[in-house]
Amino acid sequence: MRHQSRRRTCGLVILLALLGHAAAAAEPAGKRPGKQQPEPEQQQRPVAWAWISQQPQLSSIAGILTLIGADKQLSGPFTGTLLLPTNEAVAEYASRLQAPLQIADTDALQPFWKLFFSSLIDYHVLLARVYAKQWEASRQHSTRYFSSNGLPHSVTFLANSSCTPVLPSRAAGSANPKAAGSRRGKAGKAAPPTEPCRSVAVQDEQGNNVTFAGARTAVQGGGVIHTVNAVLQPNDIFPSLAAVLAAMDFSDLSGVLQQIDAGLNITVLADLEKTPGTLAAPTNEAFIGLDLSGADAATLLRIVTYHFCPDTQPWKLVYTPFTSPTKRNPCITLLGRTTGQAALLQLTYKQQSSALDAAPDMWVSYPTSAGNNTVTVNSTATIVMADITVPLHVVHAVSKLLLPPS
Ligand SMILES: *[C@@H]1O[C@H](CO)[C@@H](O)[C@H](O)[C@H]1NC(C)=O
Ligand SMILES: *[C@@H]1O[C@H](CO)[C@@H](O)[C@H](O)[C@H]1NC(C)=O
Ligand SMILES: *[C@@H]1O[C@H](CO)[C@@H](O)[C@H](O)[C@H]1NC(C)=O
Ligand SMILES: *[C@@H]1O[C@H](CO)[C@@H](O)[C@H](O)[C@H]1NC(C)=O
Ligand SMILES: *[C@@H]1O[C@H](CO)[C@@H](O)[C@H](O)[C@H]1NC(C)=O
Repeated sequence: MRHQSRRRTCGLVILLALLGHAAAAAEPAGKRPGKQQPEPEQQQRPVAWAWISQQPQLSSIAGILTLIGADKQLSGPFTGTLLLPTNEAVAEYASRLQAPLQIADTDALQPFWKLFFSSLIDYHVLLARVYAKQWEASRQHSTRYFSSNGLPHSVTFLANSSCTPVLPSRAAGSANPKAAGSRRGKAGKAAPPTEPCRSVAVQDEQGNNVTFAGARTAVQGGGVIHTVNAVLQPNDIFPSLAAVLAAMDFSDLSGVLQQIDAGLNITVLADLEKTPGTLAAPTNEAFIGLDLSGADAATLLRIVTYHFCPDTQPWKLVYTPFTSPTKRNPCITLLGRTTGQAALLQLTYKQQSSALDAAPDMWVSYPTSAGNNTVTVNSTATIVMADITVPLHVVHAVSKLLLPPS
């Protein structure tokens, strides 16, 4: 059980099972398409992959689906909903990537990209069949992507605000009281159902309203595919470390990185973007009361490299649930590797239960110095957000600066 959930969060099972489980997980309506749709019509619907591979505007996402093996999964009946970004949308997202896009079979980074795209694509797969018809102002739908920050993650279909699709019986509970009121006032109880509105956008967990592109289709198995004008982003997947630092409470850490760059004429963040691994990222709270303005760049670099464990395989990335001992936890920091003190300079990620869990039950423990630097003791920093996924990294936000024993 524990083993299984560890593998699951590592993403490998997500990769293998991508879309394959959609049939089992879909809502009952998806399982009985025959009741609503006559059989002959079913037969004429294209298989999902056959349709996708024939759409010129979906060739980029088709390449990604092929990379992660989803093409095979989509070559049979599909019962859920796929939201597929157009080529322009994929290109725009690709322009925000900082890590080298190495996806040939011989590339060392390919396994990391597969893991990353598997998670990202899972966020574009809805468990239920969702047409663009909409009766409410907005409606949340579960996706196949789950992590400790969303079990599962969801997207929200937004209705056309210039359309009032209120069904009389639903008016009382409608999220759009204005529309409900006018409906009731005009037509009273006896009013027949109006036509539904068409959703105009899908809102992702980062608050982006992504509009629908032209093409959509119903596919064999009862599922549906919509094309969309941007890559959807859950609250914990980002195209780069820089995007993570910009999106959250990390301005002090960014300042420290700039201080190091200026002092040593290097580019720490750009180098980290290219190096796969697990990063403990101190939030602004970690810097309260610390004055690092006069610290020398070499000391700061030492501290930063104590927060990062480089890895060569995606399964070594330290995701929740944190269990130890394993081959990946404790993890050896970059400082441990560069100074040849691997045994001493390790971080151990911990949590109370082995189930997926939220902060503050997670922390990282690390050896630090006490008194006059002759005694090394273990200290801990609380993880305020775990499992932030970047193409080559997993990032855990911590509320304390980890100071290596000196
Ligand atoms: C929104 O609804 C209005 C009124 O029904 C319609 O004219 C318009 O085309 C709709 N917009 C979209 C993007 O569907
Ligand atoms: C997205 O749409 C919602 C509902 O229409 C609106 O409240 C919100 O401001 C929009 N967000 C952006 C970033 O446009
Ligand atoms: C900084 O590094 C770059 C390239 O590594 C080099 O061209 C430049 O001269 C260096 N600047 C200083 C001030 O050392
Ligand atoms: C530092 O170490 C010395 C020798 O071990 C010890 O006598 C002294 O009390 C220590 N000082 C502090 C401040 O802990
Ligand atoms: C610190 O943690 C490490 C790894 O968990 C352990 O081996 C060591 O004994 C601990 N040291 C102290 C002083 O507790």
